[in-house]
Amino acid sequence: MAYAHAPVMLQEVMEILRPEARRTYLDGTLGGGGHSEKILELSGPDGRVLGLDWDDEAVAAARRRLERFGDRLVVRRASFRDAREVLRQLGWERVHGVLLDLGLSSHHVESADRGFSFQAEAKLDMRMDRRQAPDASEIVNTLPVRELARILREYGEEPRARRIAFAIETERRRGRIASTKELADLVARVAGKKRGHIHPATRTFQALRIAVNRELENLQGFLDDGYELLHPGGRMVIISFHSLEDRLVKQAFRKWSRSCICPPKTPICRCGWSQKVRLLTSTPRTPSDLELQQNPRARSAKLRAAERI
Ligand SMILES: C[S@@+](CC[C@H](N)C(=O)[O-])C[C@H]1O[C@@H](n2cnc3c(N)ncnc32)[C@H](O)[C@@H]1O
Repeated sequence: MAYAHAPVMLQEVMEILRPEARRTYLDGTLGGGGHSEKILELSGPDGRVLGLDWDDEAVAAARRRLERFGDRLVVRRASFRDAREVLRQLGWERVHGVLLDLGLSSHHVESADRGFSFQAEAKLDMRMDRRQAPDASEIVNTLPVRELARILREYGEEPRARRIAFAIETERRRGRIASTKELADLVARVAGKKRGHIHPATRTFQALRIAVNRELENLQGFLDDGYELLHPGGRMVIISFHSLEDRLVKQAFRKWSRSCICPPKTPICRCGWSQKVRLLTSTPRTPSDLELQQNPRARSAKLRAAERI
């Protein structure tokens, strides 16, 4: 199956990163390589990109698509959480621009066998990095019911989290819940009929995907000191697709842009913190109407950007 994914907010990302020759860039979520391709084109003849993705299929697809750039592109199968270590191994240390375009690619959703979609019958998997455990089936079949309910509530904002978690527990006592379809049907029975265009299992599937891939932990791990990856004047762009991610990015960028992080009303500053970045977006940017017409999957994208000082 060909790797399909349309890069989101491509023009906006390039306007912020302003790729140039002789510079280096980190694309922490390489996917099909759409954003990296543009960075490499604009930073010719010798700008370089380190592209990371933890998904084997993305890495293979991007390598194929971007082969013509030769050694201007370095690809590693790794989590962006480990970007600092990979940059260190390459001797790059810092870069002039960083991009994270979070979440799933269209390829994930459209590849039935990856188990992300409730539209197709498949093994419950949902791992982007297939070297890692647990997968969705293990979570659904082994997690204590209270923990399952917490995941559905916190990561899926599912109002019927407890009811669904108890139904899963009852069902798995009879036998393992092995497929996407079994889970989707079970949720539909408990959580009620389709609301508008939204399938009743949408929130459950989102929650499980976030839990399986530890998406928030990985993003937070990156955000703890991600500004250190940038040269002074270097820029970082992060595109997120749900409010939990956007909140983490907003909080981190705010912290990085402050000159003091002492608790409010502290008489004398003792934190030792200093401003790390200047915010380039006070509120998140969203895709244009034209892009949304052409690519409805971009609809929940929120872009935030900052510049290292
Ligand atoms: C939305 S797609 C990126 C699409 C890409 N910008 C393009 O233009 O084709 C997100 C990609 O990030 C990858 N990904 C998500 N979390 C990751 C992480 N923690 N580390 C590395 N890659 C990650 C996914 O495997 C997926 O391929």
